[in-house]
Amino acid sequence: MSESQLWNDVDEYFSAHLSPDDDILQAALRDSEAADIPMISVSAPQGKLLQLLAEIQGARNILEIGTLAGYSTIWLGRALPADGRLISLEYDPKHAEVATRNLARAGLDKIVEVRIGPALESLPKLADENPAPFDLVFIDADKANNPHYIEWALRLTRTGSLIVLDNVVRGGRVTDPDSTAPDVQGTRAAIELISSHPRLTGTAVQTVGSKGYDGFALARVL
Ligand SMILES: C[S@@+](CC[C@H](N)C(=O)[O-])C[C@H]1O[C@@H](n2cnc3c(N)ncnc32)[C@H](O)[C@@H]1O
Repeated sequence: MSESQLWNDVDEYFSAHLSPDDDILQAALRDSEAADIPMISVSAPQGKLLQLLAEIQGARNILEIGTLAGYSTIWLGRALPADGRLISLEYDPKHAEVATRNLARAGLDKIVEVRIGPALESLPKLADENPAPFDLVFIDADKANNPHYIEWALRLTRTGSLIVLDNVVRGGRVTDPDSTAPDVQGTRAAIELISSHPRLTGTAVQTVGSKGYDGFALARVL
């Protein structure tokens, strides 16, 4: 059995017991595939991890950067109380349209808002609205901008908020200081920012599973 088949099987076992995909999540993935949207959402166990982290945070306000078709957004939205709020930023109008439908089917349209446009344009507009501090920020968009997203997350959160940064391994290239790839440079800059910023403490964890070899960073705002 190949390594990736093994990771897949173990993910399926964990998922079947601990994070089963219900009809709504399955329909979200089906509609995403039917719309030719890349299948690069988090896995079900990772989605459940996001939900648990938001619940542990007692989150009432969540910011997501990178909606895709709303799969991770559904997991996060399910952690919120009925009067909670989730704002998800998405560059691609087609992704946002499919996500909006998926979120409505999940009954989350009252608390989730998908904002279309480059996140670095949406974030200053959001800050101008002076929103309540976000309790959790999930960063999962263009990796080159990761350090900018961490800076914005710091402006939009409070002491005790949690920042989750996805896909930090870059196939192992994250260790290469000479890489000129924007995703590697952006991810390295984000990790170094978490390490050096006086208001952040964090860690990064490598993972394997149905999405292959990857990892995420967690940072708590001090
Ligand atoms: C990895 S996918 C997000 C997956 C999603 N969080 C999930 O797990 O279901 C990244 C998304 O970020 C969006 N994106 C890329 N660059 C962006 C930008 N500058 N601003 C906002 N969204 C962006 C892409 O269009 C894509 O939909």
